[in-house]
Amino acid sequence: MNEVILGIETSCDDTAVALVTENGEVLSSVVSSQIDIHNEFGGIYPEYAARAHVNAILPTIDLAFRRASLTPKDIKAIGVTRGPGLIGSLLVGLTTAGGLGLGWGKPVIGVNHLRGHLRSADLEHSRVEYPAVVLLVSGGHTILSYMYNSVDIKILSSTKDDSVGESYDKVGRMLGLGYPGGPVVDKLAKQGQKTIDFPRPMIHKGLEFSFSGLKSAVARFLESSPEYPKEDIAASFVDAVLDVLITKSKRALKMYRPKSFVIVGGVAASPQIREAAQELCESQKVSLCLPPLKWATDNGAMIALTTWDYVKQGVYKPPVHQLKLPINEF
Ligand code: KG4
Ligand code: ZN
Repeated sequence: MNEVILGIETSCDDTAVALVTENGEVLSSVVSSQIDIHNEFGGIYPEYAARAHVNAILPTIDLAFRRASLTPKDIKAIGVTRGPGLIGSLLVGLTTAGGLGLGWGKPVIGVNHLRGHLRSADLEHSRVEYPAVVLLVSGGHTILSYMYNSVDIKILSSTKDDSVGESYDKVGRMLGLGYPGGPVVDKLAKQGQKTIDFPRPMIHKGLEFSFSGLKSAVARFLESSPEYPKEDIAASFVDAVLDVLITKSKRALKMYRPKSFVIVGGVAASPQIREAAQELCESQKVSLCLPPLKWATDNGAMIALTTWDYVKQGVYKPPVHQLKLPINEF
């Protein structure tokens, strides 16, 4: 067998590895999480993240091969995240992939992390109907994009300051909920009422996002009303975030009239956003495509699937075993 790609993702705080076939079938996917390490700091501590990747990377790769009952001889290429991300974390994946590629005689291809997220909805089997408007909401990014097909992508907008995930994480920290804030803020929000009218930055025009004003408004509110029910603050914050995300997505759907709307990235794991997207797509008569929860957060499978795109386009020509790592290319 030679139709499998090894995907390695170490851009942030997950050491993630997967083996994926040409049609997106995931033969194994292993994620070694660092949440326990960063929890006490209320956010990611880059120095510890890089060190934890060093400790986890080889056992994680080994486990992925064992779970798929494959050996390095069986793979066609290695795909590895080349950015964006924390440099110390990225270097662990990049240098490991480079070394293994040389040792095993396999090509190594650098993959943009965001492109990986944008492709994640097609993991296991193709779901996305192209052209698609894709909302990427993760810890590091908030992007609206238009995908003509699985490889040709136009970025429509991004955030001028904080990402959605970052805002969730910061609000989680302000409310004393630990890291990562997203899942806990979401859970708490479900128990509260939307009693506070937080600002919806830049909601009235364009596709660009901004979330720092909302985050500061939550901080100011907490300072002035420390006894206010936390669940109501969480519910009002989530309401403002969703209002902005859905309003901008609706605007993009009206402008671009795609066949489907896709949401990817860690925040796509939020049940509230999934529900709101359902309503949006029904009203806009466009089909909704959401990746299964396990492919919303960082994983190696999305990197392997994106590597397949490059391989199919002939980005490398075997048997030239060459590490290709352009820095700024999307
Ligand atoms: O895509 P991801 O795993 O990593 C990055 O590329 O950044 O996204 C992580 C982000 C974190 O900010 C986390 O708080 C958020 O996704 N997140 C959520 C949920 N699960 C994870 N945000 C809202 N609701 C969730 N259920
Ligand atoms: Zn990510």
